[in-house]
Amino acid sequence: MASASRGQWSGKTGFILAAAGSAIGLGNIWRFPYTAGENGGGAFVLLYLGFVLVVGIPVVLAELAIGRQTQKNPVGAFKALVPNTLWPYIGGLGVLTGFGILSFYAVLAGWTLSYLWGAITGVYGGVMTAEASNDLFTQLIGNPGLSIGLTGAFLLLTIVVVKGGVSKGIERTTKVLMPLLLAILVLLAIRSVTLPGGMEGLVYLFQPDFSKITGSVVMSALGQALFSLSLGMGAMITYGSYFPKEENLPQAGILVAMFDTMIALLAGIIIFPALFSVGVDPSAGPGLVFVVLPSIFGSLPAGQFFAIAFYSLLAIAALTSTISLLEVVVAYFVDEKDWNRSRAAWIIGGLCFLVAIPSALSSGGAEMFSTNFMGTGMDFLSLNNIIWGNFSLSIGALMLCLFVGWKWGIPAALVSLESSGHKLAGPSLLGVAIKFICPLAVSIVLIYIIVTQQYF
Ligand code: PHE
Repeated sequence: MASASRGQWSGKTGFILAAAGSAIGLGNIWRFPYTAGENGGGAFVLLYLGFVLVVGIPVVLAELAIGRQTQKNPVGAFKALVPNTLWPYIGGLGVLTGFGILSFYAVLAGWTLSYLWGAITGVYGGVMTAEASNDLFTQLIGNPGLSIGLTGAFLLLTIVVVKGGVSKGIERTTKVLMPLLLAILVLLAIRSVTLPGGMEGLVYLFQPDFSKITGSVVMSALGQALFSLSLGMGAMITYGSYFPKEENLPQAGILVAMFDTMIALLAGIIIFPALFSVGVDPSAGPGLVFVVLPSIFGSLPAGQFFAIAFYSLLAIAALTSTISLLEVVVAYFVDEKDWNRSRAAWIIGGLCFLVAIPSALSSGGAEMFSTNFMGTGMDFLSLNNIIWGNFSLSIGALMLCLFVGWKWGIPAALVSLESSGHKLAGPSLLGVAIKFICPLAVSIVLIYIIVTQQYF
């Protein structure tokens, strides 16, 4: 229908940049290292890579196929393909999940602004001890007013871009900044592995200790693979819906997945050597990256310059991800409820701000949200991270595979994927993965976690 008014990427590069912008973000640079640290290192990393390959790539293709075929938001897409069924509720769960993830992601994104400010005002003078860095962390993010304010500021930035529409707002931001981010990450990785004691960190990250694998490690690895690739909630359905018909979609999707995984590994190569070098506990939790990084900047010549550059780029990488989260919800209200884009962006962004407040208060701002929220043993933000970021995405990915494999059908998905005339290598492999391997892998993990109740 109204593809002109919905907008379109300027071409394959535009899509790759935007989708990579969605995928690459705090999931790679904040969530991957801290989750790997909490889950014992090497074995987790191996499982994560396995899930990227076995679940991630097939689900990327499944979502993109649905998006390009229907040119709709996740709910509208299911309605278009299978009207009068319950499947659109899976799209609905995706929209809700996008909102849920945005509500805590914006808080962390706010932290990057806080650190950027810290870098500008030069608080990382000299090599920092783990304690000094920890104090800095508490001081920068434990302040309730500041934390809420920065969350709001970040949501405001997100609203402004989403309001402007997909191609103009999103592509432009990503084009220049992604390559810059990559360059600075490589530089930091080189610095980090040459720190005294750095090698130990690489061993921790890459040498699997299989005795550390438990159900919750496997669940976290699955969740991380999906979260990092922005899968299981329809972000790639939505982004695929703006993909031009004549371009090679599968290739673009696979490139994005590879790029995203590379950035996560690079972040690990930065964080773990530095962590061992300054003596921070790998299982320090959500604050890990924020506590470890200043010590690297302190040991770099022109550290302040690099700190400013790094935190600006990190904030932008986070922004291109929050944009995709808000975009999913906005696209739903624009397509299905006929709201205008600007109104949808303001209302949903504003609501999300309210819902984000407890998350903003969960790192010391308010006792109730900060420790053992309602007997779960974790703070409010971490709890949301697990509910939306691990469980909800896993359920979404499972249902997407079941839908494409058994309801819509692999042949139809292939028609959509190959509509530009570019053939997919190994179409039957994709079929087996979507019909059998992914659903089995994801359900086994979910059932195991529910039965053993070892997650909480
Ligand atoms: N993939 C993003 C990141 O790694 C987060 C995200 C998850 C974005 C789900 C959209 C959907 O930062």
